[in-house]
Amino acid sequence: MKENRVKPSNGKLGVMCVGLGAVTTTTIAGVLMSRKGLSKPIGSFACEGIMRLGKGSDKIYKEVKHILPIAPLHDIVFGAWDIYEDNGYEAAVKANVLRSSDIDPIKDELTQIQPYKALFDKSYATNIDGPNVKEPATRWEQTEELRKDIRHFKEANNCDRVVVIWIASTEKYIPRDEKVHGSLSSFEAAMKADDKEHIAPSMCYAYAAMREGCPFVMGAPNLCIDIPAMWELANETKMPISGKDFKSGQTMMKTVLAPAFFTRQLGVTGWFSTNILGNRDGIVLDAPENFETKRRSKMSAVENILDSDIYPQLYSDIYHKVRINYYPPRGDEKESWDNIDIFGWMGYPMTIKVNFLCRDSILAAPIALDLILFSDIALRSGLYGIQDFLSFYCKAPMHADNEKPVHDLFKQFAMLKNKIRELAGYEADQELD
Ligand SMILES: NC(=O)c1ccc[n+]([C@@H]2O[C@H](COP(=O)([O-])OP(=O)(O)OC[C@H]3O[C@@H](n4cnc5c(N)ncnc54)[C@H](O)[C@@H]3O)[C@@H](O)[C@H]2O)c1
Repeated sequence: MKENRVKPSNGKLGVMCVGLGAVTTTTIAGVLMSRKGLSKPIGSFACEGIMRLGKGSDKIYKEVKHILPIAPLHDIVFGAWDIYEDNGYEAAVKANVLRSSDIDPIKDELTQIQPYKALFDKSYATNIDGPNVKEPATRWEQTEELRKDIRHFKEANNCDRVVVIWIASTEKYIPRDEKVHGSLSSFEAAMKADDKEHIAPSMCYAYAAMREGCPFVMGAPNLCIDIPAMWELANETKMPISGKDFKSGQTMMKTVLAPAFFTRQLGVTGWFSTNILGNRDGIVLDAPENFETKRRSKMSAVENILDSDIYPQLYSDIYHKVRINYYPPRGDEKESWDNIDIFGWMGYPMTIKVNFLCRDSILAAPIALDLILFSDIALRSGLYGIQDFLSFYCKAPMHADNEKPVHDLFKQFAMLKNKIRELAGYEADQELD
């Protein structure tokens, strides 16, 4: 029997979601319905995945939840913050992602989720506004309020531990500023000085979470924990952090296709990616400064995988463009198009078209759930800092300044499985499955 490094899952796992919108309510509904045996957590590797352990004649295949002590769905308690007062049921109905037959059986549980008042700054998301917000105060004082919320939630629900995940709107683009974000002391000084320009609301949630002993996940492309001050805080508090930006639809496809071109040494001259979507996320992203945060996140995969340092003749001149258009009739049913211009033998051009008619929140929900469950595993294993084994779930995987992120979906999957092997006392390996 191999030695499992992970402490058992005892008691309740609290999950505090920043934002009670489309993805959050879809994630919660899927978990609650699965608990009742009325649905299945399809797409969740932590809940349903099967993987190989051992090599050669010793190899066995096991469910991930039997390899690691993943918290059972029955032990999860959800809470949230949002700028709107809608409870979980009202928010799920408004998000209009799920059929009533998938929400009504869990109406009572959803209704009990009453969001805490949000730490909100309209200048970070100009296209939305709501009444359920904390009183104006300094960033430091408001963060203290968030810490109280976490303590209150944990106590009221008798939780053994809590994971905090940002599934709220994408904030406007802010660049990293070394003077403020470069160290924890300068960051804390800026919070106390109420430097609203450099301290985004999401950073306050992350700070509060780590100070309260909670792992933090960033599901949007916000700068937030992608700064040295937060890495220092994660090390000091010994908290795992992961992000950024759920890799759900278009970018998931890009990180499958780009490695194929690279492996076959096909050149790329252009990659045009466009999207239409009509949900609240779409309204927020309609503001140019918020779109800019998303655009940068969506650009990073192709640039990283099609490495022009290795093959300048194939990839040094790619015209890469990403667009997102708010189109209300589509609601959450986003459609994306990719037009990829490639070239092969003797420079002859070819074109590939990808048209993905997806459901944004349906794709994102298992990603959010896995990030929560594996962050809890990381916590119970004593892992802290950036959890790069969770890159698999992220569009713009976080990484130390001196490291290159891995974007290729299958390499990321190998990293995830190897971390699972390592934590379960098996050797990491490169075998074919
Ligand atoms: N759906 C996907 O495929 C996908 C993929 C990658 C990333 N994301 C990101 O996930 C996030 C959530 O997406 P969604 O479709 O659920 O959006 P949504 O608009 O339905 O929900 C976001 C919620 O966050 C709330 N909010 C905004 N600022 C807040 C704050 N400071 N504090 C507390 N609540 C706040 C909003 O009121 C809203 O209810 C977005 O940032 C989106 O870009 C989604």
